[in-house]
Amino acid sequence: MRSKIVAGNWKMNKTLEQTETLLAELSAKLPDTDAEVMVSPTYVNLTGAVRSLESSKIEVIAQNMHFAESGAYTGEISAEMLLNIGVDTAIIGHSERRAYFGETDEILAKKVVAALAKGIRVMFCFGEELEDRQSGKHFKLVESQLRNALFSLDASAWSKIILAYEPVWAIGTGETASPEQAQEMHAFIRKTIGEAYNTALANGVSILYGGSVKPANAEEIFSKPDVDGGLIGGASLVADDFVAIIKAI
Ligand code: PGA
Repeated sequence: MRSKIVAGNWKMNKTLEQTETLLAELSAKLPDTDAEVMVSPTYVNLTGAVRSLESSKIEVIAQNMHFAESGAYTGEISAEMLLNIGVDTAIIGHSERRAYFGETDEILAKKVVAALAKGIRVMFCFGEELEDRQSGKHFKLVESQLRNALFSLDASAWSKIILAYEPVWAIGTGETASPEQAQEMHAFIRKTIGEAYNTALANGVSILYGGSVKPANAEEIFSKPDVDGGLIGGASLVADDFVAIIKAI
């Protein structure tokens, strides 16, 4: 179901103590909102975060997961392990996983299928690099990322998919897609899903924008009709900034 979502991707930041401090601050300052609010601490702090947020509406989600059920995959985490500690949503396909850890569309398709098979909700990230945009290939690229990882899914699976469009050139760079660029791409994404499935399904998918969202630009980006919220990196590490972004939705 299409809902408003603000999610913080903490990446490889915050020790356990720092995680607890930030979560306590966020819980205390959390504004009243209909939006879903999510945070994604690093793996080792997920259990602690789930415990800290037991009586909070803030949801804890994972930054990644492996496609195999279990076995000889040193350093990896399975869907079952996440569910077992009370985490039922995972980010899959973040551009840093694609760029630094060799995650291809093919691997991501396997992860999506594995997550959904276990009932894990998927926050699927995708987006073009600067060269793609400069050479006018960004729509084609985004379409292929969606097609390769998601368009073989049954329509019923889409109730557990959240999309996060994150142009790589805007991640951690301070450069943001303009609200118009974000809206243009989000509308394209919705149209592409509508063509692959149907309009009702496309209208039901939450599509988040990610890439240097800050308190100063959040409201304008979120005001666009096809932007259903944000996946926030840097600004989610500072309670007041994240809270201001939640207020903006
Ligand atoms: P950023 O990161 O907000 O620091 O640009 C966004 C993301 O990587 O999800």
